[in-house]
Amino acid sequence: MIADDLTAKANGAFEFAEVQLRKLITNHPSYFPLFTKAGKWKHQSESWTNWCEGFLGGMLWILARRTGDPWWRAKAEEYSRLIEHRQFDGAVHDLGFLFLPTWKVWYEVTGDKKIQKTVLTAGETLAGRFQEKGAYLCSFVAPESLFIDIMMNVEIIFYAAQELGDQRLKEIALKHCFTTRRYLVRGDGSTAHEGIFDLSSGAFLCQSTHQGWRGDSSWARGQAWAIGGFITAFKYTKEIRFLDTAIATANYFIERTPSEGIPPNDWDQPPPKASYESSAAAIAAGAFLDLAQQVTDPGLAQRYHNFAKQTLTTLLTDDFLGAGRPGWEGILRHGIYHERKGLGVDESVMWGDYFFLAALDKLLQNAASSSA
Ligand code: GLY
Repeated sequence: MIADDLTAKANGAFEFAEVQLRKLITNHPSYFPLFTKAGKWKHQSESWTNWCEGFLGGMLWILARRTGDPWWRAKAEEYSRLIEHRQFDGAVHDLGFLFLPTWKVWYEVTGDKKIQKTVLTAGETLAGRFQEKGAYLCSFVAPESLFIDIMMNVEIIFYAAQELGDQRLKEIALKHCFTTRRYLVRGDGSTAHEGIFDLSSGAFLCQSTHQGWRGDSSWARGQAWAIGGFITAFKYTKEIRFLDTAIATANYFIERTPSEGIPPNDWDQPPPKASYESSAAAIAAGAFLDLAQQVTDPGLAQRYHNFAKQTLTTLLTDDFLGAGRPGWEGILRHGIYHERKGLGVDESVMWGDYFFLAALDKLLQNAASSSA
């Protein structure tokens, strides 16, 4: 159950999202922003890596389904087509982020196998990053680098394995999850952003970070990627160790985060440059809703559901919604992309907007199906 005023605010956020996204794609056609600068999407800042081009299309697919408006549907297809060639992109580890919110959704609404083929090819391409020695999918940075973020992309390999009946792909996805669990998830449930391996032997060398504070600290967005990634791995495999890891990382997130639900960029950094990393909160909210549906203990399920609701309630306030700042072009404010590089600090970020709408959509759909 969710309260009527939360439902009303969530619906209001979708109306605001329609306004913001219509402006973005009308004013800057075929443009894929990453983060705002002083609240504006179009600027010339460095992007570091190309990983975000599925989130705009993903929001368009959510709006197309919610509104039934053919204009949103046409735009969703258009922005999906713009990334079709990326199914062969072996230079990034983010093909799940590109194709799960777009082409997989497109396949699910049409049942068109030609559309599904694009998703399956993307899964096979991502599997090409597998390092036999070390047993992990390497990050875009280097073959010796494993990122926690990849946990959120490995779903596309599990999906391709399932749909193609391909045991080799399944083994790759499984091994990647076990390696991440072993070397990036710590005993207290916190996670490291990156692990470095010796390429000649496959031996694990050390934990490291790019977007967090230190190699031994806890980057909040990485923690959110871990919760979402391990709960998804559990859904595909029913491997209980993945559920246990999702629970451990979720509990750590709750323990370290203020009660309103919004973490800083890194919990260990003294003091953080900006108070909030709202995209981590949005990602975590969606993951907590999923986790609440997978745990068998009703008390635990209620705890995760309540934390997700509290987080979304906070993100729906004028402090966080772009609607509270006239002229702001994003949907959700107070996100951080890359604090060390000074990219997108205290700004809207494209994936933050996407995961925020996706979590709100999930909350509303769950509420509708439980009251039906
Ligand atoms: N891998 C992208 C990020 O979380 O910034």
